Amino acid sequence: MTGQVYWEAPSNIALVKYWGKKGLQLPCNPSVSLSLSLSKTQTSLKWVKKERTDEFSFDFFFEGEKKCLFEKKIEALLERIGPSFSFVKDYHLEFRSSNTFPHSVGIASSASSMASFALCLCSMAKALGHLDGPFYEKASFISRLGSGSACRSLYGGVASWGEFSWQEKKLGSDLFATPVSKVHEDFSEILDFILIVDSSPKAVSSTVGHSLMNGHPFLEARITQANKNMESVLDALYKGDWETFQNVVENEALTLHSLMMNSVTPFILMKPQTFLLIEKIKNFREKTGAKCCFTLDAGPNLHLLCLKSEENLVRKFVQEECKKHLENGRWIEDKMGKDGPKFEEA
Ligand code: PMV
Repeated sequence: MTGQVYWEAPSNIALVKYWGKKGLQLPCNPSVSLSLSLSKTQTSLKWVKKERTDEFSFDFFFEGEKKCLFEKKIEALLERIGPSFSFVKDYHLEFRSSNTFPHSVGIASSASSMASFALCLCSMAKALGHLDGPFYEKASFISRLGSGSACRSLYGGVASWGEFSWQEKKLGSDLFATPVSKVHEDFSEILDFILIVDSSPKAVSSTVGHSLMNGHPFLEARITQANKNMESVLDALYKGDWETFQNVVENEALTLHSLMMNSVTPFILMKPQTFLLIEKIKNFREKTGAKCCFTLDAGPNLHLLCLKSEENLVRKFVQEECKKHLENGRWIEDKMGKDGPKFEEA
């Protein structure tokens, strides 16, 4: 018995950052992100029935080439999913993946790839009659076990992960992400200019990064701040309040980096050009009143977010004032993608 499925899942960029984990990939604080439109991982999964063994049996190909290093990540994911997916041991699996975006440019490939693997595994489970519970919730749960932020890549638009309070209600779950639907129409189109300052491989792995929060002197304060920022940014998205959105998003980006800088083993991941561009963005905003703001993930590259109405003004700014400070003058234009993952019968 054989079968095959194909899924495409988006990467995402966090507005409120997940930083620090506990237990089995559970977040220390709630987070919220925008799923991207063009930056995606495309994965096909083929399964062939075999004699059951205790081991998982699979191959992984990235852009046509066998990738042993990544196989370890898939192995870890399969181990973590546990008994509800033990039927997988009756099959040999073949994953084939590719990304629509380059490596190490500030676009999280772990989020889009783990989300696409989880979707493929859930489709396989569904096809073989082993899926229990709602499909996307399950896929989000599974992708979380591969990479925390991946669980938000299961939905288009805005998605949150972790428990939080909003409008006096307790919402969200630490186990899987949920879509945020209460978004003002002014925020229906958010563009993301990804300014590539340095594309060298990550100086700090995400596992090491999160572990810096264990025993961090500001851990409690960070959790309080993230919960507050979560409420503020959800309010801003709901009301169409750009100024609050901008303040929270930039505060979160700088907090993430300051937490790294003042942890026991300190890391400075921003480069001189990162600071220079932040300064330029602030000056540009002051001069023109453009609705744009920056965010960062755990690296030196900037995401310059803006509303659709500012597209031409911001692109001109990037071309005229930022380009000369970017690695090979390179940036990537993406935007919030509303559709979320895409399934195709392979
Ligand atoms: O999902 P991970 O373990 O790669 O962690 C992602 C952490 C940040 O990108 C810095 C923040 C986030 O919420 O995406």
